[in-house]
Amino acid sequence: MDVVKTASVDTLLSTRARLKPPASRLVARGDVAPLYLFAGGQPDPYSFPYDDLVEATREALQKEGRGALSYGDALGYLGLRELVCEKTRYYEGFEISVDNVLITNGSSHALSLACDLLVDQGDPVITEAPAFSGTLNNFRKYGPQLIPVSLDQEGIRTDEVEERLKELQREGRRAKFIYTIVNFQNPAGMTQSLRRRTELLDLADKYDTFILEDDAYGELRYSGEAVKSLFGLDTNGRVFRTGTLSKILGAGVRLGWILAPKDVIPKFSAMKTDGGTNPFVSRVATYYLRKHMHEHIEELRGVYRQKRDLMLERLQAGLGDSATVSHPDGGFFIWIRLPEGTDPQKLLDLATERRIAYVPGPSFYPDGVSGLDHIRLAFSNSNLDEIRQGTDLLCEAIRLARG
Ligand SMILES: Cc1ncc(COP(=O)(O)O)c(C=O)c1O
Repeated sequence: MDVVKTASVDTLLSTRARLKPPASRLVARGDVAPLYLFAGGQPDPYSFPYDDLVEATREALQKEGRGALSYGDALGYLGLRELVCEKTRYYEGFEISVDNVLITNGSSHALSLACDLLVDQGDPVITEAPAFSGTLNNFRKYGPQLIPVSLDQEGIRTDEVEERLKELQREGRRAKFIYTIVNFQNPAGMTQSLRRRTELLDLADKYDTFILEDDAYGELRYSGEAVKSLFGLDTNGRVFRTGTLSKILGAGVRLGWILAPKDVIPKFSAMKTDGGTNPFVSRVATYYLRKHMHEHIEELRGVYRQKRDLMLERLQAGLGDSATVSHPDGGFFIWIRLPEGTDPQKLLDLATERRIAYVPGPSFYPDGVSGLDHIRLAFSNSNLDEIRQGTDLLCEAIRLARG
């Protein structure tokens, strides 16, 4: 039946639904679909292990029968929780038990659960700035006071974190948590040093707060040495750590997790009443990963390393030293400080004309205004030809976009 008249829900909206992210000062004009998809952090669609997933689906159904299609365990499919333990042991080098793991609908869901558990409107949450725009929007639904802390080459500035925590203490308040993306920070690219990790843990302890450690890309390291995770270093139950299969298997599987101390997992679990997260796909993913996880991750590292290196090479060729370009050891993104005097709106217009999509800097700041002199490029979702052509065209646009 066609809907003749749409009733308006606007007068009945919840306070949460009325909360709005800050309006962007930059507007993308033109409606031609981009050809060079450097905006979102989509994994390479050609890397999806299609045939092996078909095989894993068959195996999961054969071995688990009708149970595979029933409602699931509130904490998630046990096989996947065991796999997260194995993955943590292999890639992070520390032991956890299944009682530390709650399966979620991607790590975005895990990050929301941290807010469900801890954040009321107006509550202080400390976040790196810049930080992943999706998480900032995720947090904004809860109406927190987002308190930005800047980054340097070692990651989050712990001296600034302490200043902010002291200010809150003087007001008789405590931060609900400190949000940090530890590896190949999205968007800025650096990996948090061990020294900063230790300092952050000390600060969480001293000011009696928690750390929300987001590690969406940890396995996708193409150079440099891994640094132990905050969760693995923590001895005081101060860290909740989120992870995901989105980047190493496929964002469409919508599977992630939160690691937390055993006594906190049931509290997170109580915040989700969904009949178990993706019980069927959890089985497919588990059967696939049990057989192929290591070789697949190794293959992805090769694919993305080549893409990263090519984009960096073309940026160097096109911009030389006029711009500051991040050199991440992993992940999907390159963060560029534009040459002095670049007009950000003019750049967006010139790039749109050239059918290039990227994310302007302000999306990554809590105030939605800072970062006009930065852009983020994703190299993950384009093939090598697209990276070569698109980056060269973008460099041309940057050179033309002087104010
Ligand atoms: C830093 C970071 N955290 C979390 C996510 C959320 O990913 P998902 O919900 O697909 O697990 C992303 C996705 O791009 C990300 O870049």
